[in-house]
Amino acid sequence: MPVWPAEVIAALRSAEHVAVLTGAGVSAESGIPTFRDALTGLWENYRPEDLATPEGFRRDPRLVWSWYRTRRLRVGTAVPNAGHRALAAMERVVPRFSLVTQNVDGLHERAGSRDVIELHGNIGRVKCFDCSRIPDRFDDTEALGHCGFCGGMLRPDVVWFGEFLPPLALSRAQEAALSCDVFLSIGTSNVVEPAASLPWTAARHGAVVLVVNTTDEGQRFGERIHHLTGLSGEIVPALLRAAWPDLLPI
Ligand code: OAD
Repeated sequence: MPVWPAEVIAALRSAEHVAVLTGAGVSAESGIPTFRDALTGLWENYRPEDLATPEGFRRDPRLVWSWYRTRRLRVGTAVPNAGHRALAAMERVVPRFSLVTQNVDGLHERAGSRDVIELHGNIGRVKCFDCSRIPDRFDDTEALGHCGFCGGMLRPDVVWFGEFLPPLALSRAQEAALSCDVFLSIGTSNVVEPAASLPWTAARHGAVVLVVNTTDEGQRFGERIHHLTGLSGEIVPALLRAAWPDLLPI
């Protein structure tokens, strides 16, 4: 196990407010591909401009629908891992906990997290490309669906490149980064804004910040920010046990 930065453990124990930002790395151990990992990352093998932009959808809606459907089916059979479960447990022991995710897979909720701030939407929902209405239910078939109100094409309710983030989720995430005592950034390459700025915002406002990644990604944050290299499914449960040794096993 890693050598814990004592400052992080002490800060977690006494924190009034812990904020966490997660990225695709947190779900990697559940078998969901990340975006930018060499060889296996989705953006290593597919062109985001074809699959994750409004222009790409206009050009070939069936292709986009079918790609997201395949991902949705994969997410549906995935199960939350120990990293997701440890974050759900942490929510129950700290006075205030903000879990901000860039993931669209819903695995935090399925692990038991009660209040997840989804910055990039959720692949399990669809909305109308024209009027943005979200139908209560939809037929998840290969065929492209249409809106029951205006007849527009249905698209996944995720944020594509060039689109705005859901304003409420973004303002909640920014408020969390501004007001937390401890900020954990887990399993993200920290390149997509505005999420990528959140650890810096937290650090500037005095939070103790820890970056967890399988690579030495955390090093580029410099000395003021702690980092641990390893799997989130191992590090996050171990961090939980180190900070709260009396907790029952998750
Ligand atoms: P990335 O694929 O960019 O980064 C995943 C990070 O997780 C990498 O830095 C990996 O080294 C790390 N990683 C992989 N497996 C890990 C593990 N088991 N434990 C810990 N770390 C691990 O994914 P995101 O940062 O989430 O946006 O990407 C941000 C956004 O870019 C996504 O939400 C998506 C994408 O385009 C939209 O679709 C809008």
